[in-house]
Amino acid sequence: MDKRPRRLRYNPLIRDLVRETTLELSNLIYPLFIIEGSNIKEEISSLKGVYRFSIDRLEEEIHEIVGLGIQYVLLFGIPEHKDNKGSEAYNHDGIVQKAVRKIKSITDKLYVITDVCMCEYTSHGHCGILDENGYVHNEKSLYYLGQIAVSHAEAGADMIAPSDMMDGRVGYIRKELDECGYTHTPIMSYSAKYASSYYGPFREAAGSAPAFGDRKSYQMDYANSNEALREVSLDIEEGADIVIVKPALAYLDIIRRVKDTFNVPIAAYNVSGEYAMLKLAVDQGLVDEKIIMETLLSIKRAGADIIITYFAKDIAKQLKGMR
Ligand code: PBG
Ligand code: ZN
Repeated sequence: MDKRPRRLRYNPLIRDLVRETTLELSNLIYPLFIIEGSNIKEEISSLKGVYRFSIDRLEEEIHEIVGLGIQYVLLFGIPEHKDNKGSEAYNHDGIVQKAVRKIKSITDKLYVITDVCMCEYTSHGHCGILDENGYVHNEKSLYYLGQIAVSHAEAGADMIAPSDMMDGRVGYIRKELDECGYTHTPIMSYSAKYASSYYGPFREAAGSAPAFGDRKSYQMDYANSNEALREVSLDIEEGADIVIVKPALAYLDIIRRVKDTFNVPIAAYNVSGEYAMLKLAVDQGLVDEKIIMETLLSIKRAGADIIITYFAKDIAKQLKGMR
C-alpha cells in the first residue's frame, strides 16, 4: 500500500509545504455601496455586515478597509435620481465619480475599481437603454457605457469593470478610454455573467431590480457552458485584461473551463446571494465560520486568480488571527 498521501498529512508542519492552493488578501476585491445623502451608514438587511455609505461617512470605512490590509475595492453607486437614460451614471458629479475622488483624497493605498452598468441608474432598472418597444437596444447602450467608463476614469478610477453584458462593449469602452488618454486603465469585464437568482440581495442593496421583465436577453442561461467560453473569448479579443465569471459557487465548472482554455487572469464574483446564505448559516451557529475560508478556497482551486467577495473583511480578520 502506498502511504505517500498520508505521510504528507501526518505532521501538521508539512501540510503548508505541500498545500496546492492558497488564499491571500491580495487576491480579494471588496465591493462597496455608496449612496447619495449625508450621514448615512445603513446596514443592508439582506447582506448582514455590509453597509451603504454616504460620501461623508466613507472615511471611517476606508480607514477600516486599509487597516485590515484590503487593497482592492469595487464601487457601486446608488443615485438619488433615475431616468430612462441613466444620466446620473455618466454625470461628472455622479455618486461613483464623487466617491472615487473622495477615496483618492483619503488614501493612495487603495486600488479603486468601478462597476460600469446602467441598472442602478435607469428608471426601468435594465442594464442598457430601451428602444421604443421596450427592448434593450444594444448599440445605443454602448454609447452610454462608453461615457460612463470615461467619466469614471476621469474621476480617478484605476480599473473599469463593465457588468452590463451588451455585445461589443469591451471593444467600445477600450476605444473610448484610449481616445481620451486612459490607455493604462485596464478593463475587468464581467464576461460570463449568468442570469441568476443569486443576485437577489444585491438588487435590494443597489435598488436595481428591473421594473419589468428580466435580464435573460443579455445575461447567460445557466444551462450553458460552451457559451461562456465564446463570451470570454470575444471579450479577450476586444481587449479585456481580466475576465469575470459570475456567480462563483454554482459555476465552479465554468471557472475551471475558462482557466484551462485561456491565459488571462480570471476573477470570480462570489455574489450577494452566495454571501447571504453562508453568512446566515454562520451567524445562526449552524456551521463554523471556518466554512468561509473553505468556500473561498474552493473558488481558487477551481481556477480563479481573483475573488470579488463581501467576505473580504472576514477573511482579513481570519488571516490576521492565524498569523
Ligand atoms: C449590475 C450588477 C449586478 C451585480 C453586480 N453588478 C446585478 C445584476 O446583474 O442584476 C450582482 C452582484 C451581486 O449579486 O453580488 N449589473
Ligand atoms: Zn446592470
